[in-house]
Amino acid sequence: MRTGASIKASGPQISLMILGVCGSPRQQATEHALREALRALGEGNETVFWGVRGKRIGFCTHCDLCLGGEGCAVQDDVQGLYPLIEEAEAYVFATPVYNGGVSAQLKAVMDRSRALLARNRDAFRDKPGVAIAVGGDRSGGQELAIQQIIAFLTLNGAQALSGGFFGANLGASLWSKDSLEGLKMDEVGLKALRKTVKRLDRYLKERQKA
Ligand SMILES: Cc1cc2nc3c(=O)[nH]c(=O)nc-3n(C[C@H](O)[C@H](O)[C@H](O)COP(=O)(O)O)c2cc1C
Repeated sequence: MRTGASIKASGPQISLMILGVCGSPRQQATEHALREALRALGEGNETVFWGVRGKRIGFCTHCDLCLGGEGCAVQDDVQGLYPLIEEAEAYVFATPVYNGGVSAQLKAVMDRSRALLARNRDAFRDKPGVAIAVGGDRSGGQELAIQQIIAFLTLNGAQALSGGFFGANLGASLWSKDSLEGLKMDEVGLKALRKTVKRLDRYLKERQKA
């Protein structure tokens, strides 16, 4: 698994790069869930982890510089994400649930991707993506956060996938009870995570065969 743009993993059968974007500022439940997803997807694929933790991430200021094709005026760590989004063939977006939605950090990343899309409208086009949301409460807004991610993927031309019915209807919804240990005990959520990952993996394999 590559981290950010720095460590390149290699293997005999690398065919696709799958990008995981983590919206948690902590190295806790959300990051763990995403890394588990990437670990499972990493068999036969290259995976890259990019997280907001420790990064400088500014807001989109709607300056519209990007619409002139000049890239984003905000020079910070999101600049390093743009080439990864373009390179990736599939996405896993993970967020902690903050006030019934995605984290502010992840929302800022989503808004800032406007600069990338202004330069390359096809950056996400037809590429599959799935969502993971981790809440401290059992029903704390995980599905609302997942829907935000699905909306982001869809409106930018990606193909949002779920994990399928019987447990992962919109994606992977996990309950951490506010700790990594809590997440590890959430068998139902971890099953949803496995289903979601499996669905993405199957989609990629079927697409490669076609
Ligand atoms: C500002 C803030 C708002 C939160 N809002 C919610 C919420 O609406 N629903 C919920 O289930 N948990 C909420 N939580 C709890 C986190 O989602 C939970 O602790 C999660 O595990 C955090 O992810 P992390 O372990 O990766 O840091 C909130 C936490 C913070 C800091």
